[in-house]
Amino acid sequence: MVLVFASPDDDPVAWTHALRKRIPDLEVRVFPELGDPREIDAALVWLPPPGLLASLPALRAVFSLGAGVDRLLADPTLPVEVPICRMVDPSLTRSMAEFALLHVLRYHRDLDVYEAQQQRSEWRLLLPKPAEATVVGIMGLGELGGATARLLLAHGFTVKGWSRHRKAIDGIGCFAGEAELDAFLADLSVLVCLLPLTPETRGILNGDLFARLPEGARLVNLARGGHLVEEDLLAALESGRLAHATLDVFVQEPLPKGHPFWRHPRITITPHAASYSLPESGAETVAENLRRLRDGRPLLHLVDRGRGY
Ligand code: NAP
Ligand code: GLV
Repeated sequence: MVLVFASPDDDPVAWTHALRKRIPDLEVRVFPELGDPREIDAALVWLPPPGLLASLPALRAVFSLGAGVDRLLADPTLPVEVPICRMVDPSLTRSMAEFALLHVLRYHRDLDVYEAQQQRSEWRLLLPKPAEATVVGIMGLGELGGATARLLLAHGFTVKGWSRHRKAIDGIGCFAGEAELDAFLADLSVLVCLLPLTPETRGILNGDLFARLPEGARLVNLARGGHLVEEDLLAALESGRLAHATLDVFVQEPLPKGHPFWRHPRITITPHAASYSLPESGAETVAENLRRLRDGRPLLHLVDRGRGY
């Protein structure tokens, strides 16, 4: 079997090694060295160049190196009949939950406030609150949101989650659908977005939603830049509706040099760094799907193109 690997961010040598350890007769070709495209059975990709997948006439499956497939689905040349599988991998899940915990802890212990005080050489103690006094709401209770909710709960936070279909997770207040969005948002201290970017969720972090949060809530967007209406965030920070925001993802990445977010005193920026798959771990998922493809068995973690995730 021949697999093409294309990613600007992931290490092709480490991935090739990890995959061939599991499937010794697998041939891995690293983009742009495709050889004869007619020989390629599958593609393992993150942000592939538009048109690459359409140029592979024998392609039987696309494996995403990322959990989110919005950019793949946005390629108008994506072959319609080829199945797409997204990344579900313990190392990706663990690092996302860890990153979310880091930012919730930061807000819970008022580090954003202390950083602002430091700018003014101001010494003012804010007495610590118990963890359960911080109410964290997670939008998206899937692979990443579910694990994040459980980790936050284990740290003693009060945790709520929101998804399309109702979930039942011990200790977590689960809300579903538009009808329960108000009840989900009403008492949150921190809102964490871990939704996929779909036509339904694009722009969901907007002024109308911020108005349904308590005054002074904090926002952590770890999902996609397209979830956020940027000017509504700036207005909500200006009015005090939101006290602070942490953004890992942006409509345009890298975030352009002159963008107002860079210098905003109440926005923390990370460069789409929340979570990536380690090759030794993620290769297990991909190898299992390659074996299934070879044997004609059903693939795991198939994307439903209709719903967009
Ligand atoms: P997932 O397992 O597919 O879970 C998605 C969750 O969102 C599900 O609970 C789903 O509800 C819910 N959802 C989808 N559409 C919704 C809607 N319209 N209303 C309410 N809930 C909705 O996805 P995942 O693996 O957790 O990944 C989530 C996202 O994280 C990815 O799509 C990607 O954009 C982002 N991500 C970011 C980074 C980073 O480094 N910043 C890394 C990895 C992933 P149901 O359960 O009811 O279907
Ligand atoms: C990263 O953003 C991913 O979707 O895995």
